[in-house]
Amino acid sequence: MQYAHITGWGKSVPPATLTNDDLATFMETTDEWIKTRTGISKRNISHVNTSEMASVAAKHALAAAGIDGSELDLIILATASPDTLIPNIASTVQANIGATCGAFDINAACSGFLYGVGLASSMIKSGQSKKILIIGAERLSFYLDWSRRETAVLFGDGAGAVVLEASDQPGGVLGYELNNDPEGRDILKSNFGTQMDRFDNDSLDFYIHINGQDVFKRAIHGMGSLSNKVLDNCGISIDDVDFVIPHQANERIIDTLVSRMKIPKEKAFVNIADYGNTSAATIPIAICDALSQGRIEANQTILSCAFGAGLTSAALLLKWGERTTPINTSDAALPPCDKTALELIKPAVDYFFNKAKNAE
Ligand code: UT7
Repeated sequence: MQYAHITGWGKSVPPATLTNDDLATFMETTDEWIKTRTGISKRNISHVNTSEMASVAAKHALAAAGIDGSELDLIILATASPDTLIPNIASTVQANIGATCGAFDINAACSGFLYGVGLASSMIKSGQSKKILIIGAERLSFYLDWSRRETAVLFGDGAGAVVLEASDQPGGVLGYELNNDPEGRDILKSNFGTQMDRFDNDSLDFYIHINGQDVFKRAIHGMGSLSNKVLDNCGISIDDVDFVIPHQANERIIDTLVSRMKIPKEKAFVNIADYGNTSAATIPIAICDALSQGRIEANQTILSCAFGAGLTSAALLLKWGERTTPINTSDAALPPCDKTALELIKPAVDYFFNKAKNAE
């Protein structure tokens, strides 16, 4: 019997940070509104493409696992903001880390990373693969209409990655559940895709649309019911869960979820203050931060859950192994950025405010 353990982890977050006060310099919002309604204090704005952040996160994860890119059997990259749709950007990462294996992107929005880890664990347990790299990487700032305060304050850029390896040691991924609620397709969406009118620049509209309150309610229901299902299927009681790593979309969503599930708030990891919602990257970034803060300990039972556009949801239960420190470290880093976050987004801010003014 083969088990699938996380043996390596890494993240890459771009250096330019955009604070709530920075946002308040050009839109009607306040640090207080954003903090109390979402828990977010700042987010990162990338000066490089998604695949570059993904590659740096991947190099750290490989070093932490003590393996070389050439040893991988598969690369799964979860993203809704790839630099290119054709080809996928898992292939860019593959080239950057010297891997010779299958590589593909998946789009399950914010749940994409857990979809990837779930699928990878099944492949490992079936004996099909031994070492799989799963990455969540996003450059959601690309999709933001900065004149829309209800979405522009929520998202940030970043990447995280894990290595999942076959092992004889019991534990690792114990089970996972995936779901999608197509009734919620229209309440969280971008119109980017072949449905766009390529010949009419004025009608191009690919910013993120959200019905925040509706997503809020469905997110709690979706993550809660899948989490209970995976616990039931694995025969594990909620009291036996040591640590929870939820998707970071809104701290109030996390608070409500854990309170309904009767999980003490101290067991839930929350780092949304520093990054905002980085979609598929929130959970692998959270794993890295939780490990470096000593919150993940050997042999803990960990529940992770997510929801996103689709409306996708996922829940995964795992038993962490013995090792909580990296085998090796990597000096991989993004190139330096000579602009502030406000400078990076200025062309888009000017574009969207002019567009909104012209539409009046
Ligand atoms: O990972 C999946 C993607 N994430 C999501 O889909 C997010 C899910 N939803 C949420 O996190 C919350 O619904 C939001 C943070 C988006 C909004 O919080 P809310 O408590 O549901 O606020 P609301 O939409 O009910 O808006 C309350 C008020 C409105 O003003 P009025 O109508 O009461 O006068 C908004 O116009 O807050 C106003 N508002 C803002 N005010 C200051 C909306 N955005 C802002 C803002 N700054 N950035």
